[in-house]
Amino acid sequence: MGIPFEQLKPPKWGGEVPGPVDCGPLQLGANCVIDPPVICSPMAAVTNAPFRKLCRRMGAGLVITEMVSDRGLVHGSERSMAMVDLQPDEAPVGVQLFGKDPRMMARAARVAEQMGADLVDVNMGCPMRKVVSSGHGAALLRQPERVQDIFAAMSEAVDIPVTGKTRAGWEQTDAIAVAEAMQEGGAAALTIHGRTRGEMYDGHADLAIIARLVKSVDMAVIGNGDVCDWTSARRMFHTTGCDGVMVARGALGNPWVFREIRADLAGEPIPERPTSDERRALIWEHVETYVASFGVDQTCREIRKHLLWYFRDTPGEKVLRRRLSTMTTLRDVEAGIDAAVEANAGLHQIGAKSHPRGR
Ligand SMILES: Cc1cc2nc3c(=O)[nH]c(=O)nc-3n(C[C@H](O)[C@H](O)[C@H](O)COP(=O)(O)O)c2cc1C
Repeated sequence: MGIPFEQLKPPKWGGEVPGPVDCGPLQLGANCVIDPPVICSPMAAVTNAPFRKLCRRMGAGLVITEMVSDRGLVHGSERSMAMVDLQPDEAPVGVQLFGKDPRMMARAARVAEQMGADLVDVNMGCPMRKVVSSGHGAALLRQPERVQDIFAAMSEAVDIPVTGKTRAGWEQTDAIAVAEAMQEGGAAALTIHGRTRGEMYDGHADLAIIARLVKSVDMAVIGNGDVCDWTSARRMFHTTGCDGVMVARGALGNPWVFREIRADLAGEPIPERPTSDERRALIWEHVETYVASFGVDQTCREIRKHLLWYFRDTPGEKVLRRRLSTMTTLRDVEAGIDAAVEANAGLHQIGAKSHPRGR
């Protein structure tokens, strides 16, 4: 996606921690229940089957594939089919499509449904030049009529819920017309990332536009932007009145974020941050499930970025960076993880929570 490494970390919110949130599971259609209403975002080159499974096991109520081309899916391209390699132990799972032609999107939605998707989501937020220049992703924010046609065609084609993911607007916060068009077309829910296309990942997400959308439409609204722990999840729920939250960057190297938010929503104590042994065990589980899905060579190449995220901002990150280019076997990967764990020995728990519980 070409996002600079430093922007892959959401900005922290300061200030008072809001009180507990009273919010139940989110039911979208007869057979799709999101419980808890905390969703792992679609992320290109990240939310493949191993990552999705880990996030589900850690407590995400729904996981979503990275964005997949409608044409790729309809024509059975190897790359697109691999992205939608849905597995029973990750359900409920959504497939995110990008495209702009209502008929092609409807056909792709049918393929996703046949492949076992519990919902199908439309990408209307991707800001990348090569995506928007062909009329996809955030380019749809400027075409409410087309959006309505896309949702109408997809909703007609499948029995599973059709949802959409937008940004706050193109240059200005004007997502309401698009949200209304989605609703007219039969969308079951909308996720909104509180930044415009022009803002990319700058500054803080604008929660006021999310709150306005919640008031303007009847469908469920999922708040997205800068949720990275139980305190920021509470802030999103309280400030916007949303029905669910979606977490992207906060889950990179930190799938534990889901069990933290799940516990808070259930009124349970926030789990302690994982110990060094627990972290190592989960990182290794991630590596093993990656190997099972993609084989050793691909794992050794692609797992490197995850390892940097797991050890971000610790002495272990530096140690790993020095070894990354030579990690070509599983033995190298394991030795790299061990060296990073060793470098962090004696550190206080990574990412220890900084707020007292505000119940
Ligand atoms: C590496 C990466 C890949 C992403 N890929 C997608 C994608 O395929 N589809 C999509 O709708 N959003 C994508 N996004 C945007 C996120 O889903 C999310 O809307 C955004 O990061 C804001 O949420 P956050 O503050 O929790 O990170 C991506 C974000 C990142 C960091």
